[in-house]
Amino acid sequence: MYVIETVREMQVTADALRRAGQTIALVPTMGYLHEAHLELMRVGKKHADKLIISIFVNPRQFGPSEDFERYPRDPEGDLEKARKVGVDIVFMPPVEEMYPNGFQTTVKVSKLSHHLCGLSRPGHFDGVATVVCKLFNITKPHIAIFGQKDYQQLAIISRMVMDLDMDIQIIGVPTVRETDGLAMSSRNAYLTKEQRPSALSLKKSLDLASKMVGEGQQRASEIKKAIEGLIKSHPFTEIDYVSICDPVTLEEIETIGEKALLALAVKVGNTRLIDNCILEKK
Ligand code: PAJ
Repeated sequence: MYVIETVREMQVTADALRRAGQTIALVPTMGYLHEAHLELMRVGKKHADKLIISIFVNPRQFGPSEDFERYPRDPEGDLEKARKVGVDIVFMPPVEEMYPNGFQTTVKVSKLSHHLCGLSRPGHFDGVATVVCKLFNITKPHIAIFGQKDYQQLAIISRMVMDLDMDIQIIGVPTVRETDGLAMSSRNAYLTKEQRPSALSLKKSLDLASKMVGEGQQRASEIKKAIEGLIKSHPFTEIDYVSICDPVTLEEIETIGEKALLALAVKVGNTRLIDNCILEKK
Protein backbone atom coordinates (compact mmCIF):
# COMPACT_ATOMS: atom_id res chain seq x y z
CA MET A 1 0.00 0.00 0.00
CA TYR A 2 1.37 3.40 -0.98
CA VAL A 3 0.82 6.54 1.02
CA ILE A 4 0.92 9.72 -1.07
CA GLU A 5 0.91 13.23 0.41
CA THR A 6 1.29 15.54 -2.57
CA VAL A 7 -1.16 16.44 -5.32
CA ARG A 8 1.49 16.13 -8.02
CA GLU A 9 2.61 12.63 -7.04
CA MET A 10 -1.01 11.47 -6.78
CA GLN A 11 -1.83 12.84 -10.24
CA VAL A 12 1.24 11.27 -11.85
CA THR A 13 0.44 7.93 -10.21
CA ALA A 14 -3.24 8.04 -11.26
CA ASP A 15 -2.18 8.91 -14.82
CA ALA A 16 0.19 5.95 -14.94
CA LEU A 17 -2.56 3.60 -13.72
CA ARG A 18 -4.95 4.87 -16.37
CA ARG A 19 -2.33 4.55 -19.10
CA ALA A 20 -1.75 0.94 -18.00
CA GLY A 21 -5.46 0.31 -18.59
CA GLN A 22 -6.37 0.03 -14.91
CA THR A 23 -9.70 1.29 -13.54
CA ILE A 24 -9.65 3.38 -10.36
CA ALA A 25 -12.19 3.54 -7.53
CA LEU A 26 -12.01 6.36 -4.97
CA VAL A 27 -13.43 6.38 -1.43
CA PRO A 28 -13.09 9.88 0.05
CA THR A 29 -13.01 10.00 3.88
CA MET A 30 -12.04 12.26 6.75
CA GLY A 31 -10.36 9.35 8.53
CA TYR A 32 -10.91 7.88 11.99
CA LEU A 33 -12.03 4.90 9.95
CA HIS A 34 -14.80 2.62 11.15
CA GLU A 35 -16.62 -0.40 9.74
CA ALA A 36 -18.84 1.72 7.43
CA HIS A 37 -15.79 3.29 5.77
CA LEU A 38 -14.35 -0.21 5.34
CA GLU A 39 -17.61 -1.38 3.73
CA LEU A 40 -17.35 1.45 1.18
CA MET A 41 -13.79 0.30 0.47
CA ARG A 42 -14.90 -3.31 -0.07
CA VAL A 43 -17.51 -2.08 -2.55
CA GLY A 44 -14.83 0.03 -4.26
CA LYS A 45 -12.51 -2.96 -4.57
CA LYS A 46 -15.23 -4.96 -6.29
CA HIS A 47 -15.81 -2.28 -8.88
CA ALA A 48 -12.29 -1.41 -10.01
CA ASP A 49 -8.72 -2.70 -10.45
CA LYS A 50 -7.19 -0.20 -8.02
CA LEU A 51 -8.66 1.31 -4.87
CA ILE A 52 -7.58 4.76 -3.72
CA ILE A 53 -8.86 6.23 -0.47
CA SER A 54 -8.35 9.78 0.68
CA ILE A 55 -7.99 10.78 4.30
CA PHE A 56 -8.37 14.53 4.73
CA VAL A 57 -10.20 16.45 7.44
CA ASN A 58 -11.41 19.24 5.22
CA PRO A 59 -11.41 22.60 7.07
CA ARG A 60 -13.68 24.18 4.44
CA GLN A 61 -16.68 22.07 5.36
CA PHE A 62 -16.61 22.98 9.05
CA GLY A 63 -18.31 26.14 10.31
CA PRO A 64 -16.39 28.53 12.62
CA SER A 65 -18.08 27.09 15.74
CA GLU A 66 -17.90 23.46 14.61
CA ASP A 67 -15.55 20.64 15.59
CA PHE A 68 -12.69 20.91 13.04
CA GLU A 69 -9.99 21.16 15.72
CA ARG A 70 -11.34 18.36 17.89
CA TYR A 71 -12.51 16.09 15.03
CA PRO A 72 -11.12 12.64 15.96
CA ARG A 73 -7.92 11.65 14.15
CA ASP A 74 -5.92 8.40 14.13
CA PRO A 75 -3.65 8.26 11.06
CA GLU A 76 -1.65 5.21 12.23
CA GLY A 77 -4.77 3.18 13.06
CA ASP A 78 -6.36 4.27 9.76
CA LEU A 79 -3.40 3.06 7.71
CA GLU A 80 -3.49 -0.30 9.49
CA LYS A 81 -7.20 -0.73 8.72
CA ALA A 82 -6.78 0.37 5.11
CA ARG A 83 -3.94 -2.12 4.65
CA LYS A 84 -6.09 -4.96 5.98
CA VAL A 85 -8.95 -4.18 3.59
CA GLY A 86 -6.52 -4.15 0.66
CA VAL A 87 -6.41 -0.47 -0.23
CA ASP A 88 -3.82 0.20 -2.95
CA ILE A 89 -3.14 3.90 -2.36
CA VAL A 90 -3.93 6.26 0.52
CA PHE A 91 -3.94 9.93 -0.45
CA MET A 92 -3.34 11.88 2.74
CA PRO A 93 -2.40 15.50 2.00
CA PRO A 94 -1.65 18.23 4.54
CA VAL A 95 -4.05 21.21 4.52
CA GLU A 96 -1.53 23.55 2.76
CA GLU A 97 -1.26 21.04 -0.11
CA MET A 98 -5.02 21.18 -0.75
CA TYR A 99 -5.49 24.90 -0.04
CA PRO A 100 -2.29 26.80 -0.87
CA ASN A 101 -2.14 30.57 -0.48
CA GLY A 102 -4.37 32.30 -2.99
CA PHE A 103 -6.96 29.52 -3.19
CA GLN A 104 -10.33 31.07 -4.07
CA THR A 105 -12.51 28.74 -6.14
CA THR A 106 -15.73 27.21 -4.81
CA VAL A 107 -18.09 24.61 -6.28
CA LYS A 108 -21.65 25.37 -5.20
CA VAL A 109 -24.58 23.06 -5.91
CA SER A 110 -27.14 25.70 -5.19
CA LYS A 111 -30.66 24.33 -4.76
CA LEU A 112 -29.86 21.00 -3.13
CA SER A 113 -27.65 22.78 -0.57
CA HIS A 114 -30.56 24.90 0.65
CA HIS A 115 -32.34 22.15 2.57
CA LEU A 116 -31.78 19.87 5.57
CA CYS A 117 -28.19 20.18 6.89
CA GLY A 118 -27.51 23.11 4.54
CA LEU A 119 -29.83 25.30 6.63
CA SER A 120 -28.05 24.74 9.94
CA ARG A 121 -24.56 24.40 8.44
CA PRO A 122 -24.22 27.32 6.00
CA GLY A 123 -21.35 26.82 3.55
CA HIS A 124 -20.88 23.19 4.59
CA PHE A 125 -21.87 21.68 1.26
CA ASP A 126 -19.84 24.22 -0.72
CA GLY A 127 -16.86 22.94 1.24
CA VAL A 128 -17.82 19.33 0.53
CA ALA A 129 -18.46 19.84 -3.21
CA THR A 130 -15.23 21.82 -3.61
CA VAL A 131 -13.02 19.26 -1.87
CA VAL A 132 -14.66 16.30 -3.63
CA CYS A 133 -14.23 18.02 -7.00
CA LYS A 134 -10.54 18.55 -6.15
CA LEU A 135 -10.15 14.93 -5.01
CA PHE A 136 -11.67 13.78 -8.30
CA ASN A 137 -9.20 15.90 -10.27
CA ILE A 138 -6.30 14.64 -8.15
CA THR A 139 -7.07 10.90 -8.06
CA LYS A 140 -8.78 10.65 -11.48
CA PRO A 141 -11.22 7.87 -10.54
CA HIS A 142 -13.62 6.03 -12.85
CA ILE A 143 -15.87 5.26 -9.87
CA ALA A 144 -16.38 6.97 -6.51
CA ILE A 145 -18.18 5.49 -3.51
CA PHE A 146 -20.26 7.43 -0.96
CA GLY A 147 -22.52 6.41 1.94
CA GLN A 148 -26.28 6.88 1.98
CA LYS A 149 -26.02 7.88 5.64
CA ASP A 150 -25.05 11.30 4.29
CA TYR A 151 -27.95 11.31 1.86
CA GLN A 152 -27.80 15.01 1.02
CA GLN A 153 -24.05 14.83 0.43
CA LEU A 154 -24.56 11.90 -1.97
CA ALA A 155 -27.34 13.81 -3.77
CA ILE A 156 -25.14 16.91 -4.09
CA ILE A 157 -22.11 15.00 -5.38
CA SER A 158 -24.29 13.14 -7.91
CA ARG A 159 -25.75 16.45 -9.11
CA MET A 160 -22.29 18.05 -9.36
CA VAL A 161 -21.02 15.12 -11.45
CA MET A 162 -24.03 15.44 -13.75
CA ASP A 163 -23.94 19.23 -14.04
CA LEU A 164 -20.18 19.48 -14.63
CA ASP A 165 -20.01 16.44 -16.96
CA MET A 166 -17.52 14.62 -14.79
CA ASP A 167 -16.94 11.18 -16.29
CA ILE A 168 -17.24 9.36 -12.96
CA GLN A 169 -19.77 6.78 -11.81
CA ILE A 170 -21.09 7.49 -8.32
CA ILE A 171 -22.12 4.53 -6.19
CA GLY A 172 -24.18 4.92 -2.99
CA VAL A 173 -23.78 2.33 -0.22
CA PRO A 174 -26.60 1.67 2.31
CA THR A 175 -26.09 2.93 5.86
CA VAL A 176 -23.99 0.63 8.03
CA ARG A 177 -25.19 0.38 11.64
CA GLU A 178 -23.95 -0.80 15.02
CA THR A 179 -25.76 -3.90 16.31
CA ASP A 180 -28.10 -1.67 18.35
CA GLY A 181 -29.11 0.28 15.21
CA LEU A 182 -27.02 3.45 15.66
CA ALA A 183 -25.66 4.59 12.29
CA MET A 184 -21.86 4.37 12.37
CA SER A 185 -20.09 7.72 12.46
CA SER A 186 -16.68 8.98 13.52
CA ARG A 187 -18.59 11.43 15.74
CA ASN A 188 -20.12 8.57 17.77
CA ALA A 189 -16.78 8.62 19.61
CA TYR A 190 -17.97 11.84 21.32
CA LEU A 191 -21.01 10.15 22.93
CA THR A 192 -20.85 9.34 26.65
CA LYS A 193 -22.27 6.08 28.03
CA GLU A 194 -25.24 8.01 29.42
CA GLN A 195 -25.97 9.68 26.05
CA ARG A 196 -25.80 6.51 23.98
CA PRO A 197 -29.44 5.37 24.61
CA SER A 198 -30.60 8.82 23.51
CA ALA A 199 -28.62 8.47 20.27
CA LEU A 200 -30.76 5.43 19.47
CA SER A 201 -33.82 7.70 19.25
CA LEU A 202 -32.84 8.48 15.63
CA LYS A 203 -33.10 4.89 14.39
CA LYS A 204 -36.20 4.38 16.55
CA SER A 205 -37.75 7.37 14.78
CA LEU A 206 -37.03 5.89 11.35
CA ASP A 207 -38.62 2.60 12.43
CA LEU A 208 -41.65 4.37 13.88
CA ALA A 209 -42.18 6.36 10.67
CA SER A 210 -41.83 3.26 8.48
CA LYS A 211 -44.40 1.51 10.65
CA MET A 212 -46.83 4.44 10.44
CA VAL A 213 -46.49 4.61 6.66
CA GLY A 214 -46.91 0.82 6.50
CA GLU A 215 -50.18 1.22 8.40
CA GLY A 216 -51.42 3.75 5.88
CA GLN A 217 -50.41 7.12 7.39
CA GLN A 218 -49.67 9.55 4.56
CA ARG A 219 -49.59 12.88 6.37
CA ALA A 220 -46.04 14.07 6.94
CA SER A 221 -47.16 16.40 9.76
CA GLU A 222 -48.58 13.47 11.78
CA ILE A 223 -45.41 11.43 11.35
CA LYS A 224 -43.19 14.39 12.27
CA LYS A 225 -45.28 15.03 15.41
CA ALA A 226 -44.85 11.42 16.52
CA ILE A 227 -41.10 11.50 15.86
CA GLU A 228 -40.61 14.78 17.70
CA GLY A 229 -42.44 13.31 20.71
CA LEU A 230 -40.27 10.20 20.62
CA ILE A 231 -37.00 12.12 20.39
CA LYS A 232 -37.96 14.64 23.08
CA SER A 233 -38.77 11.77 25.48
CA HIS A 234 -35.03 10.99 25.52
CA PRO A 235 -32.70 13.12 27.69
CA PHE A 236 -29.79 15.16 26.20
CA THR A 237 -31.60 15.54 22.83
CA GLU A 238 -32.14 18.73 20.87
CA ILE A 239 -33.80 18.43 17.46
CA ASP A 240 -32.16 20.32 14.60
CA TYR A 241 -34.66 19.11 11.99
CA VAL A 242 -37.13 16.35 11.21
CA SER A 243 -37.83 16.52 7.50
CA ILE A 244 -40.03 14.54 5.17
CA CYS A 245 -39.12 15.55 1.67
CA ASP A 246 -38.86 14.64 -1.97
CA PRO A 247 -35.92 12.21 -2.36
CA VAL A 248 -34.70 14.00 -5.52
CA THR A 249 -35.25 17.72 -4.88
CA LEU A 250 -35.18 17.53 -1.04
CA GLU A 251 -38.17 19.90 -0.95
CA GLU A 252 -40.57 19.37 1.97
CA ILE A 253 -43.74 17.44 1.17
CA GLU A 254 -46.98 17.13 3.12
CA THR A 255 -48.49 13.99 1.58
CA ILE A 256 -46.39 10.89 1.23
CA GLY A 257 -46.82 9.50 -2.28
CA GLU A 258 -44.83 6.58 -3.66
CA LYS A 259 -41.55 7.49 -2.00
CA ALA A 260 -40.38 10.12 0.48
CA LEU A 261 -37.12 10.77 2.29
CA LEU A 262 -37.24 11.05 6.06
CA ALA A 263 -34.11 12.85 7.27
CA LEU A 264 -33.21 13.72 10.85
CA ALA A 265 -30.55 15.77 12.58
CA VAL A 266 -30.46 15.68 16.36
CA LYS A 267 -27.93 16.96 18.84
CA VAL A 268 -27.25 14.51 21.66
CA GLY A 269 -25.29 16.51 24.19
CA ASN A 270 -22.76 18.32 22.00
CA THR A 271 -22.76 15.64 19.30
CA ARG A 272 -24.75 16.30 16.14
CA LEU A 273 -26.07 13.07 14.65
CA ILE A 274 -27.91 12.48 11.36
CA ASP A 275 -29.85 9.56 9.95
CA ASN A 276 -32.38 8.95 7.18
CA CYS A 277 -34.49 6.38 5.40
CA ILE A 278 -36.79 6.15 2.43
CA LEU A 279 -40.47 5.86 3.33
CA GLU A 280 -42.32 3.78 0.80
CA LYS A 281 -46.04 3.24 0.48
CA LYS A 282 -46.76 -0.48 0.41
P1 PAJ B 1 -16.66 10.90 6.39
O1 PAJ B 1 -17.64 11.38 7.40
O2 PAJ B 1 -15.34 10.37 6.87
O3 PAJ B 1 -17.37 9.78 5.54
C1 PAJ B 1 -16.72 9.19 4.45
C2 PAJ B 1 -17.72 8.36 3.68
O4 PAJ B 1 -18.24 7.33 4.52
C3 PAJ B 1 -18.95 9.19 3.22
O5 PAJ B 1 -19.31 8.80 1.90
C4 PAJ B 1 -20.01 8.80 4.21
O6 PAJ B 1 -21.34 8.91 3.71
C5 PAJ B 1 -19.64 7.35 4.47
N1 PAJ B 1 -20.21 6.88 5.74
C6 PAJ B 1 -19.97 7.36 6.99
N2 PAJ B 1 -20.71 6.69 7.90
C7 PAJ B 1 -21.44 5.78 7.21
C8 PAJ B 1 -22.40 4.78 7.57
N3 PAJ B 1 -22.76 4.57 8.83
N4 PAJ B 1 -22.94 4.02 6.58
C9 PAJ B 1 -22.59 4.22 5.28
N5 PAJ B 1 -21.69 5.13 4.89
C10 PAJ B 1 -21.13 5.90 5.82
O7 PAJ B 1 -18.37 12.32 4.43
C11 PAJ B 1 -17.23 12.74 4.59
O8 PAJ B 1 -16.31 12.07 5.36
C12 PAJ B 1 -16.71 14.01 3.94
O9 PAJ B 1 -17.77 14.93 3.83
C13 PAJ B 1 -16.03 13.79 2.56
C14 PAJ B 1 -17.00 13.19 1.53
C15 PAJ B 1 -14.82 12.87 2.72
C16 PAJ B 1 -15.54 15.15 2.01
O10 PAJ B 1 -14.67 15.77 2.88
